[in-house]
Amino acid sequence: MGAVRHILYFVYVGFAMSCAASVEMNFTKHDEMVWNLRVAEAKKANVNAYDPHPHHVTNQLNSHVHKATDKSSNDTRRGLHGQILKGPCIATNPIDQCWRCDPNWDKNRMKLADCALGFGRHTTGGKGGKVYVVTDASDTDMVNPKPGTLRHAVIQTEPLWIIFKCNMMITLSQELIITSNKTIDGRGAQVHIAFGAGLMIQFVKNVIIHNLHVHDIKATNGGMIRSSVDHFGLRSKSDGDGISVFGSSHIWIDHISMFNCVDGLIDVVAASTAVTISNCHFTRHNEVLLFGATDGFTDDKIMQVTLAFNHFGNGLVQRMPRCRYGFVHVVNNDYTHYLMYAVGGSSSPTILSQGNRYIAPVDRNAKEVTKRDYAAESEWKNWVWRSQGDLMINGAFFVESGDPKHVFVSGEGMIVPKPGTMVDKLTQFAGAIGCKSNEPC
Ligand SMILES: *[C@@H]1O[C@H](CO)[C@@H](O)[C@H](O)[C@H]1NC(C)=O
Ligand SMILES: *[C@@H]1O[C@H](CO)[C@@H](O)[C@H](O)[C@H]1NC(C)=O
Ligand SMILES: *[C@@H]1O[C@H](CO)[C@@H](O)[C@H](O)[C@H]1NC(C)=O
Repeated sequence: MGAVRHILYFVYVGFAMSCAASVEMNFTKHDEMVWNLRVAEAKKANVNAYDPHPHHVTNQLNSHVHKATDKSSNDTRRGLHGQILKGPCIATNPIDQCWRCDPNWDKNRMKLADCALGFGRHTTGGKGGKVYVVTDASDTDMVNPKPGTLRHAVIQTEPLWIIFKCNMMITLSQELIITSNKTIDGRGAQVHIAFGAGLMIQFVKNVIIHNLHVHDIKATNGGMIRSSVDHFGLRSKSDGDGISVFGSSHIWIDHISMFNCVDGLIDVVAASTAVTISNCHFTRHNEVLLFGATDGFTDDKIMQVTLAFNHFGNGLVQRMPRCRYGFVHVVNNDYTHYLMYAVGGSSSPTILSQGNRYIAPVDRNAKEVTKRDYAAESEWKNWVWRSQGDLMINGAFFVESGDPKHVFVSGEGMIVPKPGTMVDKLTQFAGAIGCKSNEPC
């Protein structure tokens, strides 16, 4: 959060006042021009990515879940002529059913780009580009990254589908600054990004992050870092977020296992929008997801985020997510552990909670799923927060607010979600999964 504010000042107020003395000497005019151009382009892209009909998007997702669950109750492991297909494919939700049952998933990796749902549904990442195979887990040169490393892959200009040659543990020396039109696809290997800096998706568009373990991320001091093939510059210290989505749009984060980072697990901030976070498994962390970093930053009104089929598991405390301003569709997630609250925020966010399972902790004072900050009831009673089809366990309760018609609770336009009773099935494979060549995943 500290550095988030720091960069916001840099972008929106001008950076002369915001940089520490040691940093000033290296902020060149060129740096300023490069970043100003990126900010301007990203702002335009973010505004274009905003969907004026969010309910079409939430309905579409719910309708896909209906189709997928009807299908999986029929025997999906039978072929066209009734023969039993080999392999353990039991994809339970519509995103997974789009690719996991294909035994040739590794020859058709880019098929994944057609599988996103929710606000990030148009994300195609590196589809159509070359496949880049990461062969080297090291991260030693921030300015001239070695070919074969993840850092060398993510700075390239063209679309790339980035995969990993074998299992690896990558300890990032500094934030990994990811450019537009990239997919980081950890399928077929166990890839851990851990014990160093996290992933930074800043002022770019169209990025897929898939099937990784991201944990034990630390704050790093900053320094000279290459941010594209034609630019490197001085970065201030990083906060220690697992994945930071900053002023970016069309972002899809799927099947990531995350725990124990110094700051948040995922931040979506600085007017980012068109984001889907799905099939992730979150554990062992206090402040889990932050959507919107400051109450003063009204540009976050364009933020639209879908949270679907995630498992909020053991050792979590709060902020799943904590939202400001935007529209958040929280659908078919399994909240098996929260110690303080699950879903909350300030500055009038719109929260549509559908078909989740909320299991309250033992603590009598923490049964409420929701939490509002910095507002009297006279104010928050107008914020639109609705719960539909959620399954409440152990005395969990969701305090609704706002005009009920705003998020059409009933009526023709509404496609009801699959209920919270289905959620342990829908989220059964949350987190990074093991996939083998020539077998369904
Ligand atoms: C500025 O960056 C260059 C590397 O491009 C480095 O050689 C130089 O020492 C830096 N200057 C300061 C004052 O940090
Ligand atoms: C599942 O099976 C039933 C009965 O055979 C059929 O009517 C229905 O269309 C099937 N559903 C799907 C999604 O294939
Ligand atoms: C990303 O790819 C699209 C389609 O190929 C292209 O139009 C766009 O310019 C690329 N964006 C960036 C920032 O490179």
